[in-house]
Amino acid sequence: MTGDVALLRGFAGDALVDDVARTAASAPFRHMVTPGGFRMSVAMTNCGPLGWVTDRKGYRYSAVDPESGQPWPAMPESFRELAYKAAREAGFAGFTPDACLINRYAPGAKMSLHQDKDERDFSQPLVSVSLGLPAVFLFGGLSRKDKVERVPLRHGDVVVWGGAARLFYHGIMPIKDGMHPLTGAFRFNLTFRRAQ
Ligand code: SIN
Ligand code: FE2
Repeated sequence: MTGDVALLRGFAGDALVDDVARTAASAPFRHMVTPGGFRMSVAMTNCGPLGWVTDRKGYRYSAVDPESGQPWPAMPESFRELAYKAAREAGFAGFTPDACLINRYAPGAKMSLHQDKDERDFSQPLVSVSLGLPAVFLFGGLSRKDKVERVPLRHGDVVVWGGAARLFYHGIMPIKDGMHPLTGAFRFNLTFRRAQ
């Protein structure tokens, strides 16, 4: 991975796992439905002013959790700081995310190739944090048909992409069975975005 993509190995600390649990205690993980009517294998929740949601009506950002009608939990300071520092390390100074999507993968769960394009300002990067079970990250190009790199991601790894790579296709291969000392049989992914 080159150019506007940075892979920061082991950049995120273990303490983030506790903040994931605290967030999920007020906004539980749920399997959302795609506009096409498919239940996603990844369970999701959000924190911060805006959260990414999908249902039969489409993909969008929402200030409230549709399950509760309440605002999403506040973004923990540990999350904000990590996102800011990782972006800075990758050459994107001053990153202040207003949305953090938290993905929970059980073994077998996957994320098909997609672009993150529901945000307003593509000059802002994406910061993606891996916790728990390992995964194989698929990272392609601007076209779905472009060659896809397979990047193994482990607990604590952070990927930042922006600039010319901001709209690159990406995804996650089905998670393998396993057990992680901090997360058990799950992988968590935090994706920080500037949605508005
Ligand atoms: C995503 O693209 O939203 C998730 C990426 C990941 O789980 O690492
Ligand atoms: Fe994504």
